[in-house]
Amino acid sequence: MNVTIIGCGYVGLVTAACLADVGNDVCCFDVDRDKIDVLESGGIPIHEPGLHEIVARNKAAGRLSFTTDPHRAMTQREAIFIAVGTPSGEDGSADLQYVLAAASEIGRHIETFTVVVDKSTVPVGTARRVREAIAEQVAQRGLDCMFSVVSNPEFLKEGAAIEDFTRPERIVVGCDDDVPGERARETMKRLYAPYNRNRERMLFMDVRSAEFTKYAANAMLATRISFMNELANLAERVGADIEAVRRGIGSDPRIGYHFLYAGCGYGGSCFPKDVRALMQTAHEYGDTLRILDAVSSVNAAQKQVLVNKIVERFGDDLSDCVFGVWGLAFKPGTDDMREAPSRVVVAALLERGARVVAFDPVAMKEAKRAFAADLRGEPEARARLSFVEDQMDVVAGADALIVMTEWKAFKSPDFDSLKARLKQPIVFDGRNLYEPIAMEELGIEYYSIGRPRGAVSIAEDAIRPQGATVALF
Ligand code: UDX
Repeated sequence: MNVTIIGCGYVGLVTAACLADVGNDVCCFDVDRDKIDVLESGGIPIHEPGLHEIVARNKAAGRLSFTTDPHRAMTQREAIFIAVGTPSGEDGSADLQYVLAAASEIGRHIETFTVVVDKSTVPVGTARRVREAIAEQVAQRGLDCMFSVVSNPEFLKEGAAIEDFTRPERIVVGCDDDVPGERARETMKRLYAPYNRNRERMLFMDVRSAEFTKYAANAMLATRISFMNELANLAERVGADIEAVRRGIGSDPRIGYHFLYAGCGYGGSCFPKDVRALMQTAHEYGDTLRILDAVSSVNAAQKQVLVNKIVERFGDDLSDCVFGVWGLAFKPGTDDMREAPSRVVVAALLERGARVVAFDPVAMKEAKRAFAADLRGEPEARARLSFVEDQMDVVAGADALIVMTEWKAFKSPDFDSLKARLKQPIVFDGRNLYEPIAMEELGIEYYSIGRPRGAVSIAEDAIRPQGATVALF
């Protein structure tokens, strides 16, 4: 099939690359000339494991092309995906200006029946607005060009996006119940056929339900995390261990083990934004989602939990302290710094006068950019933040190590070397990477999330090499 993807961001590029890889002729359109230039010259503007190789081989095979020319991208295409950004507006609602601009552009160029696919995360009712924007342009051209707008939300996790696209758990498609809608449904079936073998993964529904499904999924997951974080904080107070509790409740299939990890708060481009947008949708309909209100404020507080522990240990004035930070990205496998808890923690430490030395295996460039923006107008604080290229350099002479992201490289460090380099053997762990009892045996003062110091989190029969710690992830 011939397909166009509008928007060469994270979702657009992954979608384009994967669809080209199964033999489709895919054209990527973006209004950003610089981005297209980078892609045409073989670069990839984002970090996503495996993406570079797929883009390169499909470009070489002539199945994947990049353009800023809307005529080339939008005429004679069987399907056009809209995969542009929907940033949070000032009131938390999704800003649809890029989606609607893409829709108008489509209306200015389509010539034959085209399936327009809303891939961007958009509030309920957006497909109707997209349809109107296209229809307006088509009518102005005096054409009676048929098209159908479908909703096909993405469920791609950063760092695992290729896997999520090519082996989806479900493919949600919302279609209209009319003749063009039926035609669109057949097109979507053909397009996703390579990912729909062995078991039926396609879930067809009406357009509004498909739009809603995306927000419901992310809101549900965010709720689960905030609830675990709140339980973790209580577990600490009552002397229980959230890791043991996690296994205890996860073994109930109604609850399940996934997405039950307490930590220093969720971040990223989706959960915070989608939770806000769903709350705003409720608001527009005169309703309040009280649970999501709590999910959001629990998460904001959770990003401060490590700061509170540090202040409790070192006092409010941290001007004599140096802290080493491992991990800056909001999660491993990505260089994404959007709403990363590290931004909150580092800013709070700098605000209290500390010096901070930071390292991330992948996100250093993005992190420097993010902190430069966060600390704009605060040159003195910014001067106290530095970045090093080796994770062990972070701890040299530091008063404590703070773990913010659960990168593999942090899971089994050389603890003797760590101890030797730290000024004091203290670790604040926002991702529960290590075993509290083992840390105690190593003589490391260890603070984690929802576990009393010295707790035995692992099962009795787990193998724990002498003197070593056991990563729980
Ligand atoms: C998410 C959804 O999972 C994906 O389906 C959607 O399309 C986009 O948003 P992503 O933002 O890439 O994907 O990250 P995800 O792996 O879901 O993690 C989100 C946040 O939750 C991270 O900050 C992570 O650290 C945190 N998290 C996740 C926890 O704190 N505990 C967990 O158990 C799982």
